[in-house]
Amino acid sequence: MTTPTIGVFDSGFGGLTVLRELLPRIPGAHYIYLGDTARLPYGAKSQATIARYAVESARFLHSRGAQMLVIACNTASALALDDIRAAVPIPVVGVIEPGARAALHALAPLTPCHPERSDARTSSIAQLKDLEASSLPPTSDTIPPQALILATTATVQSHAYRHACEALGLHATELACPLLVPLVEEGWTDHPVTRDVLRIYLTEALSRCTPNVVLLGCTHYPLIATAIQQTLRDLGSQASVIDSARATAAAVQTLLGPTTATGHITLSCYATDSTEKFAHLGSRFLGQPIPKVELLDLGG
Ligand code: DGL
Repeated sequence: MTTPTIGVFDSGFGGLTVLRELLPRIPGAHYIYLGDTARLPYGAKSQATIARYAVESARFLHSRGAQMLVIACNTASALALDDIRAAVPIPVVGVIEPGARAALHALAPLTPCHPERSDARTSSIAQLKDLEASSLPPTSDTIPPQALILATTATVQSHAYRHACEALGLHATELACPLLVPLVEEGWTDHPVTRDVLRIYLTEALSRCTPNVVLLGCTHYPLIATAIQQTLRDLGSQASVIDSARATAAAVQTLLGPTTATGHITLSCYATDSTEKFAHLGSRFLGQPIPKVELLDLGG
């Protein structure tokens, strides 16, 4: 592929944390980002509704010339990936499998079990697994490592992360943290209320498991990764905190292979609600200003 056009989809702003990781890895690509801000949060909705919204968004990105889709929303990846893949004839990368693999890699020195191949849902993901198989950690006889997955209610109820982790031989405990998305969107990333909420959630989680790694299974949580890490330390846990954004960007890069694209990155942003709010809030997630956002009406 010379200059790839990559569609990136999220229910709102959070997927910009994935785009943030993609930009330096695949420079010269044309990116089309769609945040379905009029219909977020997805994390509290049913599978049928999430799939309908996500498929509409995927079709829009494909109609705009996307040659590959990155489903940067954990909830849509967990509940609608198969529907999206059936709806558009281009490779689709979600965040769940890369996230689970990132957890496994973070645990490499501890991992005792032989990772098994999960059922590959597309040939592209299967290719990715083949590529990664060579770097999987060796077997040993240490204590089974555990992952704690923090995510939205819908993602947790789908058990997509647990299944992806178990397919790799990792034991996973999932915890829904529905209050964290609104706190992050409020900008309360370093706020006493957020720290109190984290303490309550993580106390509950640590009463159920002793994790070696905590995987942030929601696009918004990377913005409070430091507070999560600190709260874990305060509660006596030495678990490391990782997110799936970087691993997803690496998966996209692997799928694309070498590109000859050079020059400036171009980015077209669409939001289904206030473009001003998207540009303002989105710049916090992307880590740089978003100069132009177009309003898109996908219906109710
Ligand atoms: N983007 C969603 C996720 O990663 C969080 C926001 C929402 O619930 O829509 O799960």
